[in-house]
Amino acid sequence: MRIPLYRDGMTPLYEQIKLFLAQQIQAGTLTAEMRLPASRHLAESLGVSRMTVINAYAELEAEGLVYSIHGSGTFVAAPIDGLENGRSLQSTNQWPIWQENLAQNALVPLKEPYEKAIANARHPNIIQFTSGMGTTEIFSAEAFRKTVQSVLRRDGAGAMGYGDTMHGGYAPLRTTIAHILGSEGIPARPDDVLITSGSQQAIAVVARLLLRPGDTILVESPTYEGALDLFRGLGAKLVGIPMDEEGMRMDVLEEALRTIRPCLIYTIPTFHNPTGISMSTRRRQALVTLAHLYNVPIVEDDFAGELRYEGHTQPALKALDRHHNVIYINTFSKVLVPGLRIGYLVASGPVFEQLLIHKRNEDRSSSDLMQRTLDAYITVGRYQSHLRKVGRTYRKRRNAMLDALQQMPAGVTWLKPFGGLFLWLSLPDGLDAAALFPVALDQGVAFVPGTVFFADKRPSSTLRLNFTIHEPHIIAEGVRRLETAVKVMVAQ
Ligand SMILES: Cc1ncc(COP(=O)(O)O)c(C=O)c1O
Repeated sequence: MRIPLYRDGMTPLYEQIKLFLAQQIQAGTLTAEMRLPASRHLAESLGVSRMTVINAYAELEAEGLVYSIHGSGTFVAAPIDGLENGRSLQSTNQWPIWQENLAQNALVPLKEPYEKAIANARHPNIIQFTSGMGTTEIFSAEAFRKTVQSVLRRDGAGAMGYGDTMHGGYAPLRTTIAHILGSEGIPARPDDVLITSGSQQAIAVVARLLLRPGDTILVESPTYEGALDLFRGLGAKLVGIPMDEEGMRMDVLEEALRTIRPCLIYTIPTFHNPTGISMSTRRRQALVTLAHLYNVPIVEDDFAGELRYEGHTQPALKALDRHHNVIYINTFSKVLVPGLRIGYLVASGPVFEQLLIHKRNEDRSSSDLMQRTLDAYITVGRYQSHLRKVGRTYRKRRNAMLDALQQMPAGVTWLKPFGGLFLWLSLPDGLDAAALFPVALDQGVAFVPGTVFFADKRPSSTLRLNFTIHEPHIIAEGVRRLETAVKVMVAQ
């Protein structure tokens, strides 16, 4: 047990030990019936006399916090009056002042109130359309297990270190990623690829590098709430650029670039989260041109770009970018599984070295074992066939949702997504999706209210439905429940 002791201080050592243990017991860290270390062992490890520890234990016993059994040791006593020990410290407001002050600027993730409401809902079996993931069931855990084993057999202790921290990650994986991107028309040299712990970390390192105090980030309005939470946490000001069916509006963007001088533009041009919209090719060209004209970097989040179920592909912004203004970000979370925590960014020029330093500052390296395993897993042609399988499954699920939505009351409209994970639905005028949320929970269905995705948290009649997690018959049942909830609300 590590007890901090201040040996030059006025408080006797036995009292310091007693105080520390009493606090741990009151905070609930040391729980009832836990055995305290034998006085001789604790004295040795702390470098104090045994008498010092015996005195500390005796004081704790006198206060009823511990009890001793001759020959067995000293144990934490059960709390008095059934009160949990952990509560007493909190209820007497004994957090240090700096901790109390944190509450004033506390971050509350945008989705949190809704997640808590789902956790506390009365309905026993809520169909959740709230997920930001694909299904993990298509991924073959068994094949992955065998790949881990083969990598360990091949690389042994070599796979147990930090791996490459100087160039951006496991070199063969960076080459594989460059090949995959090349096959999709996105130019990337292995040296421009930086492996990150999920694409969330890629967004974080870019923002950390480019953001200065007082800076503004331009985002689509609406946009991915995880990016809003992240940017807010870093102290950025956020300005949302409205979208239409072609994506971010270039007239509004140009005005913002002219008047605000933002530090970066964050965009999800393909199968946008949350609307599912893909930016038209002419808008993509305009965006890249404007960014160059105004000397502003673009962060292109292509989190679901490969998950297309119909229609033609559009070029990635990175593919249109001749001047190295685009930092491209992608992830294996949506096509494979998020638990790998492997994403990456592609950037060229002096920015790469700086991003690499920020990445190292954050977590030294993304798991080297996971990078090696992923590389062994996706180079054997599995990636493309897995992608086809995922595409077939998600297309069916999307269609199931589109079919089920036909029963919605008049006035409910939605955008048909050509790919990705989400469907964006609008309620009849005047209905607030956040107000519908508890009504829907009572019916046994959950969604993400649109307000969560707006930088200004405005009330909204829109909501996001995930269609990739559940099988078609569950989707049909969930949409039926949603339809009932809308009817209940309209009737109110
Ligand atoms: C648009 C978008 N970008 C990035 C992420 C982060 O995903 P990950 O860190 O798992 O790659 C998500 C997750 O939901 C997302 O929706």
